[in-house]
Amino acid sequence: MRKLLIAANWKMYKTPTESTAFLTSFYPLVKNSTHAEILLCPAMTSLPALVDAARSKSVFIGAQNMHWKNEGAFTGETSPVMLTAIGATHVLIGHSERRQYFNETDTTVNLKLKAALAHSLIPIVCVGEKLEEREADLTRNVLQLQTSIAHQSIDPAIAAPIVFAYEPVWAIGTGRTATPEIAAEAHRLIRAQIPKSLPPALAASIRILYGGSVKPDNPKSLCCLEDIHGALVRGATTHPQHFPH
Ligand code: PGA
Repeated sequence: MRKLLIAANWKMYKTPTESTAFLTSFYPLVKNSTHAEILLCPAMTSLPALVDAARSKSVFIGAQNMHWKNEGAFTGETSPVMLTAIGATHVLIGHSERRQYFNETDTTVNLKLKAALAHSLIPIVCVGEKLEEREADLTRNVLQLQTSIAHQSIDPAIAAPIVFAYEPVWAIGTGRTATPEIAAEAHRLIRAQIPKSLPPALAASIRILYGGSVKPDNPKSLCCLEDIHGALVRGATTHPQHFPH
C-alpha cells in the first residue's frame, strides 16, 4: 500500500519564526490524521528551527534543494551531509523553478537523486512540461526524458524511497490546476518509465504526487485517482487552515 504524501514547498517564504509559528497552529489540525504523511519544506534558514519544533510530532521536514557533493568549494550550496546532520528527512529535486532560474538539468537531477539516496534522504523528483511543450504536443517526450534521465543507473538496492512529483509548469502558482484526466495521463507516462530502470515490483511501489495550484479540497479529487499518491503544494499551504490534507 502506498501511503499518501502531502508535501508543502514554501519556496522563498517564511522566516524561522514564521515557520515554527505555522507548525504550532497547524499541527493540532493534522495530528490525528493517519491517511497521509505530511512534509514541510521550508527555506534553508528555517530548516534547523523547524526540525527542532517538529521533533516529537508526526510531521516530516525536508529541504527544497541540495548539491550532490558531500562538501567542496560551492558557494551558497548545501550538501546532503549537512541536511542529514540537522535532521532533515526529505529533499525536493529538480523543481521547475530550479530548472528555469538556476540551470538545473536532467543530469544534475540524476546526480542529486543518487546523492540523496546514498545519504538516506527521501527524494521527491519533480518533472513536468511547460505550456509551450504541451501546446506543441511534446508532453510525452518531455516527461519520458525527464523521468528516465532522473533515475538512470540508480542502484535498485537503495531506490525504494524515491517519490516523483508531476508538476506541469503551466499549473504552478497560476491557479490553473491540471484536470484529473491530464494528471492521470501524465502519471501513466511517468509510471511507464520507471520499470525501464528499476525492477517491476519496486517500480510499482514508487509514489507519484501531483503539484500545481492544488487547492485545499483538490487532494480529495486528485488523490483518489489511480496512481496519484499525494500532492506537492505551495499556495494552499501558506495558512494552516487551508493546508490540504
Ligand atoms: P503552487 O506551487 O501550489 O503554488 O502551484 C506548487 C509548487 O511549486 O511545488
